[in-house]
Amino acid sequence: MGDVDWQAFVFWGILLAFPEFFPSRFPSGIWLSVSFAAEYASIIVLGPGAAVWLVVLRELFVGSVHQLWLRKGYRTRDSVFAVAFNFSQFVVSVGVAGLVFQIAQEAGSAYSFPKFLIPLGLCALVYFFLNTGLLATAVRLHERIPFLWQAWAIGRSMALGHVVLAIAGAAAAWLYLEVSPWVVALALPFLLLIRVHFQDKVEVRRSEEESLALMAKLIEAKDRYTEKHSQRVIDYTNMILRELRVSYRLGETIKRAALVHDIGKIGTRDATLTKPGWLTTEEYEAVKAHPAAGAEILAKKASFGKEIPIVRHHHESLDGSGYPDGLAGTEIPLGARILAVADAYDAMTSPRPYKPARSREEAVAELRRCSGTQFDSEAVEALVRALEKEGGPIGTVSMLRARVRAGLETWGISVPRCFGAYKTMVVCAGCEFADGCLKETLADQKPGSLEEEEEEEVRVDVPTGSRR
Ligand SMILES: [Fe+2]
Repeated sequence: MGDVDWQAFVFWGILLAFPEFFPSRFPSGIWLSVSFAAEYASIIVLGPGAAVWLVVLRELFVGSVHQLWLRKGYRTRDSVFAVAFNFSQFVVSVGVAGLVFQIAQEAGSAYSFPKFLIPLGLCALVYFFLNTGLLATAVRLHERIPFLWQAWAIGRSMALGHVVLAIAGAAAAWLYLEVSPWVVALALPFLLLIRVHFQDKVEVRRSEEESLALMAKLIEAKDRYTEKHSQRVIDYTNMILRELRVSYRLGETIKRAALVHDIGKIGTRDATLTKPGWLTTEEYEAVKAHPAAGAEILAKKASFGKEIPIVRHHHESLDGSGYPDGLAGTEIPLGARILAVADAYDAMTSPRPYKPARSREEAVAELRRCSGTQFDSEAVEALVRALEKEGGPIGTVSMLRARVRAGLETWGISVPRCFGAYKTMVVCAGCEFADGCLKETLADQKPGSLEEEEEEEVRVDVPTGSRR
C-alpha cells in the first residue's frame, strides 16, 4: 500500500461496495453480486495488495451488515458462519487471484495483444476455481453434501455469469486506465443491467419453484397420510443421484419431477386415496390413472418439459408389468427408474394408520428382492450405498419377511400363522396398503409360533401392483 493512488482506491472502493446492495440469488441458492467485475478491475488497476484491502474494508463495513440483514430470519450461528465465510473466501479469492495476475503480468505479457489475455484469463480462472471450491467446502461442512458433486453444481451455475462479469471487469479496467474514470462511472448502469438480466432469470425460476412447491402441497392436502412424502422422495432421489453421478442438469430435472410426481392424484377421489383397506378394481384403476393424469397436467405448464415422461413412467416396472404404458428395461426413462426406487422406499418406511413403518433393513431387503424385475438394480444399490453412508451398515433381516410369497394364490386364502410371527411382513414394494389389507383379512386368524424351518416353508403371495 506504499504508493497507492488514493483517488483510484476510493473510486474502486465505491464500485466494489455499490453492487453489494443488489445481489442475485441463483436457483442453486447461491448469492452472487456483480461486484466480482469491480474486484477483478481493481486487481488490474491497483494490484493485488490494494484490491485485498478494498475487499477487507467492504466486507467489514458493507458485506457483513448486508449478509446479516439478508439472513435476518436465519439462526444466529448460520449468520455468523455466513459472514465469517464470506469474509475469508473473498480475501483468499481476490488475494490469490491477484497474485497470479501480478506474477503472470511480470512474466512479460502486459498489454501486448494477445499476450495480455494470459494474466487476465489466469486471474479470472483462479478466482473462479477458488470461489467455487471454497463455496463447495462450506456447503460440505454445513450440509454434508459431497464436495465434488457440490463443486460441480456450483461451478456450472456460476460459470456463464463469471465469464460475463470478467469481461465487464476487464473492460472497466481498460476504460479507467486508457480512457477516463468518468466513462467507467457512466458504465455503472451497464453493470446494473447485467444484474437485472440475472435477476429476471432467477425470478422466473423462483416463481416456477414456488408453483411446484404449491402443487406438491396440494397433493399432500388431498392425502394427509402422505404429508411431506414429496420432500422425502426428493431427498432419497438426491441420494441416488449423487451415488450414480448423474449430471447436474438431469439431476435437477429428476428432482423437479420428484416434487410433483403424484400431482395426478389431484383427480383421484379422497376416499380412495385414504382408504385403509383393499381397493376394488375400479378404485385401483382410478389410482393407476394418476401418472398419466399428472403428465397431462404438467404438459399444460410451459415450464415443464423433460419432467413429463419421468412423472408419466414412475410406476413402470423393469419387466414391463407396470403402468401406464407397460414400458420395460431402458425404455423407462432413467429419471423414472430412479424416482420409482425413491418413491417405493419412502412408501415402505413411512407409517400409515393401518401399518407401521418398516425398518430400513426390511425396505432394503424388499427393494433388493424386486431388483431387476420391478426396480432398476443400479438405482437400488445406489440408494443402499447412500443409506449406509448416512446411517451405517444395513444388516440383513430374516429374508423370510422379504420372501413371504407364493402360496396365497388368491387374495384372502389362508395365511395361517406367519402373520402372527411377522407383524411387519414385507409384501410388495411400493404397495403401501398391502400390510393393512393383510391385517384386515387375517384379523380373525390366530397368530402362531412357527419354528424357523417351518417359517421358511410359509409363503404368501400378495397380488403385485395392487396399490402402488
Ligand atoms: Fe405415484
